[in-house]
Amino acid sequence: MTNRVPDNIPDHAEYDDIAAEYAASKQLPFRIVVEAPTLFDLAGDVRGLAVLDLPCGDGTYSRALARRGAASVLGVDLSGAMVERARSIERQEPLRISYQMGDAAGLGTVGNFDLVIACYLFNYAHTAAELLAFARTVRANLKPGGRLIGINDNPRTALARYGDYAAYGFSRTTDLPRHEGSRIRYTFPTPDGKTFGFDNFWLAPGTYEQVFAEAGLLDFRFVDCHAALPPGQDGATWDDFLRDCPITGLAARRAG
Ligand SMILES: C[S@@+](CC[C@H](N)C(=O)[O-])C[C@H]1O[C@@H](n2cnc3c(N)ncnc32)[C@H](O)[C@@H]1O
Repeated sequence: MTNRVPDNIPDHAEYDDIAAEYAASKQLPFRIVVEAPTLFDLAGDVRGLAVLDLPCGDGTYSRALARRGAASVLGVDLSGAMVERARSIERQEPLRISYQMGDAAGLGTVGNFDLVIACYLFNYAHTAAELLAFARTVRANLKPGGRLIGINDNPRTALARYGDYAAYGFSRTTDLPRHEGSRIRYTFPTPDGKTFGFDNFWLAPGTYEQVFAEAGLLDFRFVDCHAALPPGQDGATWDDFLRDCPITGLAARRAG
């Protein structure tokens, strides 16, 4: 595990200020019932795989994939506070996961992975050029035949669906008119009566398709989310959430 901070990392990252709040939000029902099951279904059987988690945040999905039998997991994130949270949990409950700080736009090759998981990475690209830098990093770290999977802000949602997701623990608003690079603001209330939030950026679905093809990744596709309900829970709540869902799965692969 390297603790050296790469030269191209900013002194301060957005998530340094919201690391604890974001980590707590991983317990919201929509993450447990929709986000995680969609990701795990896309991942399939990970036993024996070398996995890169980019961006890893506090390591929630790094740990999940290690527990599901991945042979190795490396988590990389821009935020030192997020990486430190992930390392702290790793020290308490070792799963042989490595974490390092890095910028997905200029990471280069840090390994030779069977699977890259990218949960909420691509929605940080303001432009097609930034998205291309992220996609090139993914390709540079995949073995021939390796797979990319992830979760993203859903660029396919109708404008009418932005707004209040209070029943699910957040709001999601966007600048109008929507255009390449439009800001999407997520705001989450916290138990102490305050809020925290972060910005994503909208790029058209067609931009994603063009950029991933340009980066040399095949079969890029958005994959609709689904819900995996705890026994006895009413599914109607999730039908509403899943209709024009604010988040989406995604997948692509490197040629074998
Ligand atoms: C919404 S969080 C998701 C974290 C984790 N994937 C998860 O699902 O819990 C987004 C993360 O992306 C990181 N991030 C944003 N831009 C990045 C970049 N250019 N390179 C690496 N990480 C980045 C942030 O620091 C933050 O931890």
